Amino acid sequence: MEKVGSTSPGWYDGFRGRDVISARDFSREDYEALFRYADLYEEDPGFYRGLLKDCIAALVFVEPSTRTFHSFETAARILGCGVTAIRDPSMSSIAKGESLHDTIKMIESYGASIIILRHPARGAALYAAEISRVPVINAGDGSREHPTQAMLDLYTIARKRGGIDGLRIAFLGDLRFSRTVSSLSYALSSFKDIEIFYIAPPILQIRREVKIYLDDRGVEYKEIIDMDKAREILRSVDVLYVTRLQKERFPDPSEYEKLKGAYTVGPEILSIMRSDAGIMHPLPRVDELSPELDSKPNAWYFDQARWGLNVRVALLSLILR
Ligand code: NCD
Repeated sequence: MEKVGSTSPGWYDGFRGRDVISARDFSREDYEALFRYADLYEEDPGFYRGLLKDCIAALVFVEPSTRTFHSFETAARILGCGVTAIRDPSMSSIAKGESLHDTIKMIESYGASIIILRHPARGAALYAAEISRVPVINAGDGSREHPTQAMLDLYTIARKRGGIDGLRIAFLGDLRFSRTVSSLSYALSSFKDIEIFYIAPPILQIRREVKIYLDDRGVEYKEIIDMDKAREILRSVDVLYVTRLQKERFPDPSEYEKLKGAYTVGPEILSIMRSDAGIMHPLPRVDELSPELDSKPNAWYFDQARWGLNVRVALLSLILR
């Protein structure tokens, strides 16, 4: 593996100056390079301190966030960037009806080096990237994508499992509206011998656009509706990836009320799954994942969230330095 760090002959160039809009836009080589730089955050923490002193990171979050916002903000500060943020749209001119176009133009004119955008509209990040002269990172655009979550999800799998090729992964929950599921599915298509199981009732099943992409890339996947069949599959998977019902994205609130509480994962899952299998969740959880699992070695979700910082430090550096 190529060595990175202060003795490295040169940086990986695959991310330099790029937007991060979709997990489809990155190759296996890109993801693997990113993981090496993410490892470096722990191996040599001093390496990243103050690396990007002249940078200004603008965080524009038009939707709630804990992990994505704070890990990007912390990553930017570790790197020595200035940080400017719209956190609460009701306190910005967005509440007066200012368009995304004008918001992006203004942020850019105040000297932002990069714009990290979370927005409820599908396609908002791509639109912002077309307007902006500086790179845009999609921190979630409606139900469509959340590519940096896919990066940290892949990184977690690679670290815990020693690699991604040959992965058998089951997604459980609201697969229709969870943008983390679509982005991770796209990202997995860059690796070999992946098998995906989408476990959900028909109304929450994975969207057609994702299936079309996986078909094109020759990725094996199955949609599982029947719970007995699901239990059978869970015996052999490497990872179970759970998501919450995306309440805010249901077009019809009565549908959400009907589905609320429809699935929960508790400690009994451990008697079904392999002892070395992992449980992942992008968080936040509501009631679909029992806190009784938190102390088990199979609960990977807090490491997953924590390693988001490694990945975002690495990603900002690779784009901006
Ligand atoms: C996810 C998101 O925003 O899509 N959260 C996150 O960024 N870790 C998942 C979710 O909100 O359910």
